[in-house]
Amino acid sequence: VTTTTSAITAVPSDVIRIYQSMSALALEMGAVNLAQGVPEPVHDDTWRAALAAALPTAHFQYTPTRGTPALRGAIGGIYDADPDRIIVTSGCTESLAAALSGLARTGHRTVVWLEPFYSYYPGLARIAGLDHRGVAIDLSGPTPRLDLDGLRATLAPFGERAVLLLNTPHNPSGLVLHGRDWADLRRLVADTGCFLLLDDAYRDFRYGPSPAPYAALLATGRAAIAGSASKSFAATGIRLGWLLAPQELGPVAESVHMHLSNCTPDLVQQAAVRVIEQVTPDVVAQVRDRYRRKRDALLTALTAAGLRTLTPAGGHFVMARPPDGGSWRTGTDYALALAPALGVVPLPLESFFAAPGPPWLRFSFAVSEDDLATACRRLSRQERTGHQGTGHGGPDTWGRGVK
Ligand SMILES: Cc1ncc(COP(=O)(O)O)c(C=O)c1O
Repeated sequence: VTTTTSAITAVPSDVIRIYQSMSALALEMGAVNLAQGVPEPVHDDTWRAALAAALPTAHFQYTPTRGTPALRGAIGGIYDADPDRIIVTSGCTESLAAALSGLARTGHRTVVWLEPFYSYYPGLARIAGLDHRGVAIDLSGPTPRLDLDGLRATLAPFGERAVLLLNTPHNPSGLVLHGRDWADLRRLVADTGCFLLLDDAYRDFRYGPSPAPYAALLATGRAAIAGSASKSFAATGIRLGWLLAPQELGPVAESVHMHLSNCTPDLVQQAAVRVIEQVTPDVVAQVRDRYRRKRDALLTALTAAGLRTLTPAGGHFVMARPPDGGSWRTGTDYALALAPALGVVPLPLESFFAAPGPPWLRFSFAVSEDDLATACRRLSRQERTGHQGTGHGGPDTWGRGVK
C-alpha cells in the first residue's frame, strides 16, 4: 500500500468530518475501512421487499407527526410499551435532538454523559442550549467500567435540572450495563432526581445475557428511550428512529420534532412495520451471534498486532491503544501511521474525549465478513513479519506495503 501526503494532510480536525476523512483515506490507500460507523447490510433484501410491497398503497403527503398508529404499535411491541408514548423520528439523532431540546424547555440545564462520548453529543447539547459534563468510563482494565460514584458526584449538584444521557451498549467502548448496574443506576437516578435519557442505538448488540429494564425505567416517568432502525435493522440510510417519552417530555419533544422534520415518509413507515415483523427475535439473535464471532476475531487480530484492546460487551467497536511506552501524541498520529503499515484504517478518537489523552483508536467489526477477514489477516501478519511499531517509536519505524 502506498499513500500520498494529500490524503494525510487533508484529514481535518473537525469532529464530524473525521469519519469521512478516514474513509477517504482508506479508499485512496486500498486499505480496509474499519473507521466507519455503518453496519453490515444484512437486512437489505428484507427492506427492498418491504419497500416494494408498500409502494402501491403508499401516499406521499404529510403523515401524523407522531408516526402512523401501525408503526407506533410495532415499536411498542419491541419495548412492550404504550404506543401513545412513542414518537417516530428521522433516526436516533433526531430523537436525541428532540428529547434534549424538549428537556431544555422543561427546566433542565445540564446534560451529563459517559466519556468517551459519541461525538455528536456536544453538538446536540449545544443545539438544545444545555451545558454538558462528561464522567470518565474507567478504561484502565481489560473491560470498560462504569464509575457510579463519579456519576453521582457530577449529577448531584444539578438535582432535577440534570439529564443523564446514557448510551449502553456504548459507542465507542462497548460498555454494557448488567443487572446489578441497572439497580444501582435506578437508585442513583431516584436519589439525584435527574432525568434519564437512554441512547438505545445498539440495543440488539449485547453479547451477554444483559437485557435493559425498559419497562421499569419508563414506569418512573422520568426516563425516555431514543432508538432507531439504523443498527437493529441495519439501515442507517432509511432514517427511521423513535423516542419513547413520558408525559413530562412527550408533547414538547413532539413539538420540537414537528419543527425539525415534521414527519416521517409513509413509505418508510409502512416498510418498517413489515421489517419489524420479519426481523424476528430469532433473526436478531443470529445476527448478534455473527457479530460476537466477528468481535472475537478482531480482538484476537488486534492483540496479535501488539495493540492493547478493551473487550466490548456490546456494540460494534473495539477500542485499542498502543501498549505502554507508545510515543504517539494523538490518536490521529497513531492512526495515520498504522494505516499504511497495516492496510487497515481505524477511527482516531480525539473527538470522543473533552481533553487530550492516550491515543485511543476505534476499530469497527460491523463490516462485511470478507473485509473483516482481510483486516484480521493483515493485522496478524504484522506480528508474523515481526514489525514492532505498535507503540515503540514513531511512524518511521513502520513498514509499508502490506497489501
Ligand atoms: C451512540 C449512538 N447514538 C446515536 C446514533 C445515531 O443513530 P441514527 O443513525 O439512528 O441517527 C449513533 C450512530 O452511530 C450512535 O453511535
